[in-house]
Amino acid sequence: MQRTTIVPQPIRKGIDVSINGKHFRHTGDPDLPLLWYLRDELRLTGCKYGCDDKSCGACSVLVNGKLKRACAVPMAKLVDADITTVEGLAGPDGSLHPVQQAWVDEDAILCGYCQPGQIMAAVDLLARKPDPGDADIDRIANLCRCGSYPRIRRAIHRAAQILQGKPK
Ligand code: FES
Ligand code: FES
Repeated sequence: MQRTTIVPQPIRKGIDVSINGKHFRHTGDPDLPLLWYLRDELRLTGCKYGCDDKSCGACSVLVNGKLKRACAVPMAKLVDADITTVEGLAGPDGSLHPVQQAWVDEDAILCGYCQPGQIMAAVDLLARKPDPGDADIDRIANLCRCGSYPRIRRAIHRAAQILQGKPK
């Protein structure tokens, strides 16, 4: 009878992720929320802590192209995930992403705390719906305690125009 040889595979210690195109390995607590991995370990502080009940969206990032609240995702769920934070939107030469540029052009930022999350939510919306209506924009469930919603709405319409090659 032929015997099968079992070759032991090396045990992978840690959780590999790609963040803004760079590889990282998390070797700490697998239950650590992505928010704290980004902020405390990688010092990517664009992702904000805005609530303790996963409701505000200030920590929004893209995980495998989908909008997620980083405070609600433990590192254990992110094996080989591709993550984009607001720091990863600008081009390699530092040029702003069209959504960021629209934010500047429409002066959408008041205190600014919620805005990285708002921008990530807008990037997600425009990827799914290139020409969103007001109702689509208003369905973004990110909280702005300063009430910059009308400015955000204008910025998203502007970004949609730019991304469709119809600069305003
Ligand atoms: S900090 Fe994540 S939803 Fe508020
Ligand atoms: S700009 Fe201040 S919380 Fe949104």
